[in-house]
Amino acid sequence: MRINCSNSPSPKWRFARDRSSALWRCELKWRAYDVGMRIENLDESFVTPVRTLWEVSGLTRPWNNPDRDYLDAIDGPASGVLGALGDSGLIGTVMVGYDGHRGWVYYLAVSPDYRNQGVGRALMESAENWLREHGARKLQLMVRHTNESVISFYDRLGYEDAETVVLAKWLEQS
Ligand SMILES: CC(C)(COP(=O)(O)OP(=O)(O)OC[C@H]1O[C@@H](n2cnc3c(N)ncnc32)[C@H](O)[C@@H]1OP(=O)(O)O)[C@@H](O)C(=O)NCCC(=O)NCCS
Repeated sequence: MRINCSNSPSPKWRFARDRSSALWRCELKWRAYDVGMRIENLDESFVTPVRTLWEVSGLTRPWNNPDRDYLDAIDGPASGVLGALGDSGLIGTVMVGYDGHRGWVYYLAVSPDYRNQGVGRALMESAENWLREHGARKLQLMVRHTNESVISFYDRLGYEDAETVVLAKWLEQS
């Protein structure tokens, strides 16, 4: 299924202070939508590029099997992995899932070469649309304590600290 990006925001003008001349200048910040990127539901053929992207983005952990995480998500009736695809192939992912109460997002990643161009924002907008279409009224996500610098990114997108402690317990032996 292809995500409809036609309601994407138009190119965004960013105003920046030019310190040398003390003048204000404005520059066009190219948005991912405007350079041909598309966002699609990924299938099993993407397992290797997805794993590579998650590894270079620092999202994999020894106790998680990324291939299994990916294949389980694309196989589930209420989950999936959306991929941002550019001319060079896969440049971003976000995993989505609806548990019947809340919508959840995992494995948001943008290839280092494509960061700060609106790809992460576009993926989160697509995740929100996907979850809305699947019945979720609220989206939640978890940020590792070792990755708290990313909270500024989510703050730009309107996400707030839910002031909740997440507890976990393995239900199977690894
Ligand atoms: C977090 C991540 C997905 C952001 O992707 P991105 O494509 O660079 O983000 P965007 O270009 O869409 O940025 C959207 C907004 O957030 C801001 N932003 C992006 N990264 C930021 C950061 N580290 N700190 C503060 N602001 C940030 C951008 O300036 C932009 O602001 P604006 O649109 O209001 O001008 C990317 O840095 C990444 O893959 N990081 C490694 C994996 C990771 O940590 N994932 C999250 C796990 S919880």
